[in-house]
Amino acid sequence: MTLGKRYLSKNDMKTEKPRILVIDDDLATLDCIRLSLQNERDYIVSTENDPEQALQMIYENDFAAVISDVKMGKINGLDILKAVREYDGKIPVILITGNCEEETMRRSINLGVYEFLRKPFEISELIITVRKALEANRLRIQNQDYKDKLQDLVMERTAELLKTKAMLESSYLNTIHAMVNAMEVNDIYTLGHSERVTAIAVGLGKAARLDINDLRELRIGALLHDLGKIGVTSNVLNKEQSLTDSEYDIIKRHPVAGAKIVEPIGLPKAVGMIILQHHEWYDGGGYPYGLRGSDIHPLARIVSVADSFDAMTSKRKYRSNLDFRSAVQEVYDKRSLQFDPELGRIFYENSDLVLSVLQNRIAIDDLLQEAY
Ligand SMILES: [Fe+2]
Repeated sequence: MTLGKRYLSKNDMKTEKPRILVIDDDLATLDCIRLSLQNERDYIVSTENDPEQALQMIYENDFAAVISDVKMGKINGLDILKAVREYDGKIPVILITGNCEEETMRRSINLGVYEFLRKPFEISELIITVRKALEANRLRIQNQDYKDKLQDLVMERTAELLKTKAMLESSYLNTIHAMVNAMEVNDIYTLGHSERVTAIAVGLGKAARLDINDLRELRIGALLHDLGKIGVTSNVLNKEQSLTDSEYDIIKRHPVAGAKIVEPIGLPKAVGMIILQHHEWYDGGGYPYGLRGSDIHPLARIVSVADSFDAMTSKRKYRSNLDFRSAVQEVYDKRSLQFDPELGRIFYENSDLVLSVLQNRIAIDDLLQEAY
């Protein structure tokens, strides 16, 4: 006897009413349950006395609850419960038991049975249990719908935020590049210096295994490291002869001046430290404060290497430049004096990576990808 989806009237199919499947190999019991539940009119009842056929119905239909007898021959109520769990882990299953063994009950509980109905049971008990099961199922579906919608909303908002963040970062970097260009326009000898220092610093930072946040701050700090030179007159910056002591003193003010310029902008603290400390030497012989060793910010120590390396390899009217390999050796030789000894070693051992970034064979953006 079957009253599954295939046997429902067109009117039943159109309704939003939940559907229940009742399984029992005893036709009299099955009929009694069907008649009792059908009086309720709040749900559609399908019945099946062949457990094998019932399994097929579970796969083909969208039941809100399943009621099954436990003892039914070769396919029993536990098999039905297992099949429902495999098909849809959450549909409430009510098992009808006679003299049910403790082991069967234990296994049913482990499989997540919703409720047991012990024979003989009152019709009112059956109806209350079914109502509770349907309500539990309704709430589960409602909760799942809510979670799905929330998840969709979170994904949608996250995508929007990422897009906005990318636009802001791009605009932020463009602004910084514009500031650097404005600063370098006064200094014909160091045109492009800040971009090259950035490439070298990020390459060295990557070789030193900095995390992504440090690399991002290093990039901005390296780009802006000489920003304070914007306040130094072009006569001093472009002077072909050696600088006088007072002119050199003016130049030496640029780290403090640069740090003051960026202070109100709200850039990461490390960026200000890079600008302020990129001329400090590891042995304390640098300026403006004569800091030494670990008192110098780690990112400033990286930019110090990059800045000096670019100066060594760049031509000046008043001196010749070193070739790449000689400059790498110079950094290595000056470790512990001018440069952090560990960074000097890393720079020496990873000079090919640094050169690749400098020659733009590896884009800085690629180095800033966490997966790189
Ligand atoms: Fe500088």
